[in-house]
Amino acid sequence: MKKTVHINETNQEFHLTNGKISYIFRVMEKTHTLEQLYAGKAIRHRDSFDHLIEREIRPSNNQVTGDHTTSLEHVKQELPVFGTTDFRYPALEIRYPDGDRISQFEYLDYQVIEGKKKLPGMPATFAEAEEATTLEIRLHDRYSALVLKLSYTIFHQFSALTRHVEISNSGNETYQLERLMSFSLDLPTDDFDFIHLHGAWAREAQLERHPLLTGVQHISSTRGASSHVHNPFFALAKKTATERQGEVFGFSFVYSGNFLAQVEVDPYHVTRAMLGINPHQFGWALSPGAVFTAPEAVMVYSDAGLNGMSQTFHSLYRNHLISPKWSGRKRPILINNWEATYFQFDEAKILELATDAQALGIDLFVLDDGWFGKRDDDASSLGDWSVDRAKLPTGIAGLADKIHALGLQFGLWFEPEMVSVGTPIHDAHPDWEIGHPHKNISHGRNQYVLDFSRPEVVDNIFAQMDAILKSCKIDYVKWDMNRYISEAFSQALSSERQGEILHRYILGVYALYEKILAGYPELLIESCAGGGGRFDAGLLYYAPQTWASDDTDAVERLKIQYGTSLVYPLSAIGSHVSEVPNHQVARITSLKMRGDVAAFGTFGYELDSTKLSEDEKAIIREQITQVKGWQALIHQGDFYRLLSPFEGNTTAWMVVAADKSEALVGVYHVLAKPNPAYERILLAGLDAAALYRIDGNEAVRYGDDLMQAGLLLGGNYIGRAQDYWSRKMPGDFSSQLYHLQKIDNS
Ligand code: GLA
Repeated sequence: MKKTVHINETNQEFHLTNGKISYIFRVMEKTHTLEQLYAGKAIRHRDSFDHLIEREIRPSNNQVTGDHTTSLEHVKQELPVFGTTDFRYPALEIRYPDGDRISQFEYLDYQVIEGKKKLPGMPATFAEAEEATTLEIRLHDRYSALVLKLSYTIFHQFSALTRHVEISNSGNETYQLERLMSFSLDLPTDDFDFIHLHGAWAREAQLERHPLLTGVQHISSTRGASSHVHNPFFALAKKTATERQGEVFGFSFVYSGNFLAQVEVDPYHVTRAMLGINPHQFGWALSPGAVFTAPEAVMVYSDAGLNGMSQTFHSLYRNHLISPKWSGRKRPILINNWEATYFQFDEAKILELATDAQALGIDLFVLDDGWFGKRDDDASSLGDWSVDRAKLPTGIAGLADKIHALGLQFGLWFEPEMVSVGTPIHDAHPDWEIGHPHKNISHGRNQYVLDFSRPEVVDNIFAQMDAILKSCKIDYVKWDMNRYISEAFSQALSSERQGEILHRYILGVYALYEKILAGYPELLIESCAGGGGRFDAGLLYYAPQTWASDDTDAVERLKIQYGTSLVYPLSAIGSHVSEVPNHQVARITSLKMRGDVAAFGTFGYELDSTKLSEDEKAIIREQITQVKGWQALIHQGDFYRLLSPFEGNTTAWMVVAADKSEALVGVYHVLAKPNPAYERILLAGLDAAALYRIDGNEAVRYGDDLMQAGLLLGGNYIGRAQDYWSRKMPGDFSSQLYHLQKIDNS
């Protein structure tokens, strides 16, 4: 195995490299703090990188005491803190017992560990000893008994590095942690565009790209969840970088709560990029003996454009974040009754849908919201996870047995973190709700948030879920979360600790996931938060798939799935075919297009099968057979975005098997155009020298021909001019899948 962590003990330099990336920092002689020297494409290791040290004489700044060429304002750093000569925003802020916030974290020692340690109670990427190396750097505060540990893991096969931070108090005073960013990187240029995914309910993951400004820019969440509004991800792409070429740094947060992704460009064109828990409304009392762990952030470097960055995220997350139980495993094709029935169903209706589902070739029936308490609309029963016998007289166990008897798996919806007025736990434990007892608590979707910072609340919900899960065989759970937290206050926390509530809440969510999975290790969980309101790498650790959006319209989904694919693998993107007119936008698209879009995700249906015509059922049977045949390719292959829905009328994307033996291309036209221009879709990732058969046709094409000349979408009417007039026009919202198979000509 090649060495991936090089340490120059004399110069106190650290170089993490795996032949793809290099990440270099050192201990500064004067301050003993960490100076960042280089991050990016791998450079050759050498004994010393001190030629990368820059010290200018710059008037009008504050100097490190006793030194006239060093101001931390002009040093690229690994852990900028407040109270030094650096005026940029710091990665760490602590309020000391005297009320000041002046820190100085100095190098103590290091440790190299093969593999990667688990993060306590939190999701993180994982690796065996031969897959990654971890460098732990310990720093101690000159002014207190606080010790900080930076843990860097370099994956041997990926152009990726992770970092998390731990701070511990071995003294006997309490310190208030006000900010601790998980990643902080100073890059020597501002020649970047800032790329991120923003959105709202039903229109998540909208891609935005703009040049960096001099000054501070950020995206964030203050909502108690990673949120629909911004995904906890951003990229810095060289201005000339495209989908396929150029340098890109991607940053993703393995966390599901409030976050801040901030980029600050200083007057010298240095870019400080940081990612961590949002300091807004955050505080943590570091009492004697306490240890606080800031979640993991992942940095990916690509010199093959945004697509290169995405492919690294996809394979890293497939192999080192998503549970090995599910990452390579066949996912069931499901049908969910939500849009078919909403809250109005009974056992007979569910069994009717399930019987149809079985005949269509579906694997899993998911019973969505409305099966518990007296939940006939969204105003009641959350927190009362007892079955509504009026709807389901034989209970969940009876229904699950009947569904299994049909040869289907059975899945169930829960929204564990919420409570409705009038439920037993609401009446018995008013203090279990998040909010101040003497101040207004707003409702969202008629519901309130349980205080998951309290272990007894998590235990109560676990016991209720456990009672259902153990009563019968449940193969899948859809774990929903439908409102944000606006009045963050916990009746269980002291006044000094109120800043801890939102992080403790998320730790409580993770604790419940861990308890459920410990009890039911075979359970497949799909996370959901009013669609993609908590689509993040944190939850993927527990739930290998996430419902990407409540918007199931095929046209809107092009953007949502395209944007989501920047970070998350297709096997994680929950995608269903629903009925038309679509319930979110009332658009009517063809069943074919809905299927062709949903195919590039987990795939399933969300419609009333009893309303389908025989022709539609035949199309659905065909779609299911195809997707089952292609699932390994779609979920494990390399994904290429070809044409962006954010830029034009045509969207195209494709997946290519790792061995390039097979590929599936999706091409989508939103509106039909009269007398259209010629279109050639340039494919990617194929074996240039190989011949490919497309959709089993006689004619074959070379890989290089398909990548350079492209797939021609227009017709060739030479010698058949009459055919032109009888051709079938696809109309608006058309799509086509092309399946390519390499011909074995060995
Ligand atoms: C959320 C989810 C939907 C559905 C409903 C049920 O909106 O995103 O898929 O489960 O809740 O109330």
